[in-house]
Amino acid sequence: MRGIFGILSSLVMVVISAGILYGQSDFRVFPYIQHPAPDAMTILWFSGEPSPGSCSYRKEGSHLWITLSADPDSAEAIRYSDWEDTTYFEGSAPSIPYRHRIRIENLEPGTRYEYRVTQGNTGFRSAFRTAPEGDAPVRFIAYADSETEPESTGKAADWPDPVNDSARAYFWDQTTGYRNNLEVIRSREPDLVVIAGDLAESGGEQRDWDEFWCHNTDPSGALSLAGRIPLMAAPGNHEYYEGHMDGYAQPGSERAVGRFLTYFEFPPNKSPNPEQEGRYYSLRYGPLTLIVLDLCNNSPNGSDGDTNFRLLGENDTLGGNAPDFGPGSVQYRWLEDRLAGAQVNSIFTFVVFHHAPYSSGPHGYPPGEEAFQDYQSGVPVRMLTPLFMKYGVDAVISGHDEMWERSAVPGVEVLPDEEEREHTIHFYDVGVGGDGLRGPYEGTDNPFRQFLVHSDVPETWEEGILLDGGKHYGHLEVNVFPEYGDTWQAVLEPVHVFPVYNAQDSAYTAFERRVYDDVVILRGSRDASVAVKDQPAHHLISSIYPNPFNEHAVIEYHLPWRSGVRIMIYDVQGRLLRQLDEGVREQGVQRAEWDGRDGAGRPLSPGIYYYRLETGPGHIVTGRMVQLRK
Ligand SMILES: [Fe+2]
Ligand SMILES: [Fe+2]
Repeated sequence: MRGIFGILSSLVMVVISAGILYGQSDFRVFPYIQHPAPDAMTILWFSGEPSPGSCSYRKEGSHLWITLSADPDSAEAIRYSDWEDTTYFEGSAPSIPYRHRIRIENLEPGTRYEYRVTQGNTGFRSAFRTAPEGDAPVRFIAYADSETEPESTGKAADWPDPVNDSARAYFWDQTTGYRNNLEVIRSREPDLVVIAGDLAESGGEQRDWDEFWCHNTDPSGALSLAGRIPLMAAPGNHEYYEGHMDGYAQPGSERAVGRFLTYFEFPPNKSPNPEQEGRYYSLRYGPLTLIVLDLCNNSPNGSDGDTNFRLLGENDTLGGNAPDFGPGSVQYRWLEDRLAGAQVNSIFTFVVFHHAPYSSGPHGYPPGEEAFQDYQSGVPVRMLTPLFMKYGVDAVISGHDEMWERSAVPGVEVLPDEEEREHTIHFYDVGVGGDGLRGPYEGTDNPFRQFLVHSDVPETWEEGILLDGGKHYGHLEVNVFPEYGDTWQAVLEPVHVFPVYNAQDSAYTAFERRVYDDVVILRGSRDASVAVKDQPAHHLISSIYPNPFNEHAVIEYHLPWRSGVRIMIYDVQGRLLRQLDEGVREQGVQRAEWDGRDGAGRPLSPGIYYYRLETGPGHIVTGRMVQLRK
């Protein structure tokens, strides 16, 4: 399956760079779903021709198809600029596309529907699930900084060596890194994917958005990520960046973000400025509320409160519509209202935006344009922490610094009845979607840092091959599910896509999903009097001893909850050799012993083996062990 997907995406990319979109297809962008609700879903697609397409849908298992059609709109905002036309298309760039939107309504909650879209002579079929009504287990995946552009192909990110600080290039180019990351995300079948900004390299360059949708949609509905799973996104500074044309100047920045706003549809925020619809919003989904903010700019320009010195926003002279976020601003008042509602109505509250407020990277420098300052600093966003704290936000997910970093800020939540309780907010930088892989910068100050991959996950090499550890592309997987009684858990897993060396290819052509040892487990309840949130995070952890081993190895693990468990043993080629253990285990320390034999009882040769421990809700840890002799 991977092979086919890879070939298709590269074909599509080749075709785009030749200036002909999608060969014979009548789609410019294949259909994808947006704006999930318990009773509705939006289907969007783009065509080259103005003829109306149609969408048919049915509840899975039903024989009754219902067909809807709508007149397309000319999508002026996503036309190729004159600069792109001249530079890349010799003056014959594709025409302005047409945007097709159908909102399917009166659906049943938590239900799977199949849908088909017909445009001209081309068909597309896929499926989606509506949002649940009330509490139900939810899985969502978040990342940031995919920064897609055709130029990412063949270009590997710098991968600074944490030991001696020397420069290295990553194993994969950025296109491959992002594609593999998306394949792992797709394999997990999340309910939602949330992108914390910097989706495309230059928000104002149409080719960079073509590249984004090449990765996230597909002619086959079975292979399409965005065709089956709603993508949500926060605008990042790159969405406001017009690249080679006008940088962050106005009105170029508004033209740039206009592309983002054309592609996505989010719940309305009812801003008094209708131009700000789609830039920030909130979504209630089962037991959680996701609040997505636009913190790309704050007024006055160039002040201590500004996150982008080059961008002029809503209260700057000749500024655009990038919303302010400081106290007193419309977005701040809206945010407080949403947070207060989420504290009462949801078990967990997650806030998503682009600019990580606590960071050990360059955006962790205070705002300014001098040395050890940053003109796109995330530090001003710290002004929102008291508000997040007051309403008990559980985790804040950002990007911008293109590392993997978790910070924990302690404080006091104020409950609706004025009662106070200790609370910790976890702040994530998940900017490892497909770009930077940066290391920390000298002189940054993040006193709340708990986990930074670059410094906290050493690489293990053997005979010139990376076996474990290190900083890689990845994402945050969040699983929310009932624990017992009224108590729910949110398990936050730092997933990375580990490049596996393939001896046949003499290259890192394989990959697997791995989880860093920084899993955070939050507990929550609808009953505010049950003080379950104020406990430290628990981790699913494992270790092995002795290692290396001769006769027997013991895999010891700590289960933070009672759960189904499965342990498998693999060789370095990823072949399953043995299922070691399976069953329900109690919370606490557990052990499993391996005698170095495969499933048929045959002794295995000395060498490196891996174990993989999976728990019921899909949490995984892996480990490596060395068998010396029999
Ligand atoms: Fe970025
Ligand atoms: Fe950024």
